[in-house]
Amino acid sequence: MNKKLIVLIGAIIIIAIVGILIFVFVGNNNENDNETNNNMNHENINSANNNDNSDNTEESNILVLYFSMSGNTEAVANIIHNEVGGNIIKLETKEEYPKDYDELLDYAQEEQRDHARPELATTIDNIDNYDIIFLGYPIWWTDMPMPIYTFLDEYDLSGKTIAPFITHGGSGLSGTPATIREEEPNATVTEGLAIYGSRAQNSRDQIIDWLNNIEM
Ligand SMILES: Cc1cc2nc3c(=O)[nH]c(=O)nc-3n(C[C@H](O)[C@H](O)[C@H](O)COP(=O)(O)O)c2cc1C
Repeated sequence: MNKKLIVLIGAIIIIAIVGILIFVFVGNNNENDNETNNNMNHENINSANNNDNSDNTEESNILVLYFSMSGNTEAVANIIHNEVGGNIIKLETKEEYPKDYDELLDYAQEEQRDHARPELATTIDNIDNYDIIFLGYPIWWTDMPMPIYTFLDEYDLSGKTIAPFITHGGSGLSGTPATIREEEPNATVTEGLAIYGSRAQNSRDQIIDWLNNIEM
């Protein structure tokens, strides 16, 4: 009886030790897997930021910053980003704009009349790191949407190059590069790019011509 008890206790101890060893081993392997995944994600992000036509040494100096409600300007921003690399950020406001088009028209017009500066939800922590800012927006009432004014008010872009790109329904640039020059007198503002909203998805050739023109 005693012997049986000793054998039973011995078996329990051995099972417990084996269990602990399996737990420790599998746990470590999972951690390694997570680390590998993290590294892979990092690599993916890096390669997503890579572009085909540059040496990439200056890619962190480039920011593609855009505001877009219905996605046209976003489509152009993505094409530009693919071509020039760097970082891409969508400018968002704390208060959402109306989803209904007619309401949006009225809302935006009122903001413009009031010279509103809608609060931004987006913050750009490291603006000093960027030398070149591609700044994109839709034309609203033949002007820039007011959140772009908020951005230009909040950030000092002295010494930087700003390359404006817009989408529109017929008004073109509407003189907005000149307005940016007034708002940021110590920045260099390049010739702007105007794309019809309906052509945004198919604007790569026009974008490449513009990038060549402005030597980017
Ligand atoms: C509030 C508002 C005002 C607009 N005003 C103009 C305008 O004055 N001239 C113009 O050509 N297009 C105007 N549009 C059309 C937009 O510029 C065009 O649809 C643009 O591609 C939308 O870009 P998004 O999809 O990035 O928001 C206006 C659109 C909205 C919503």
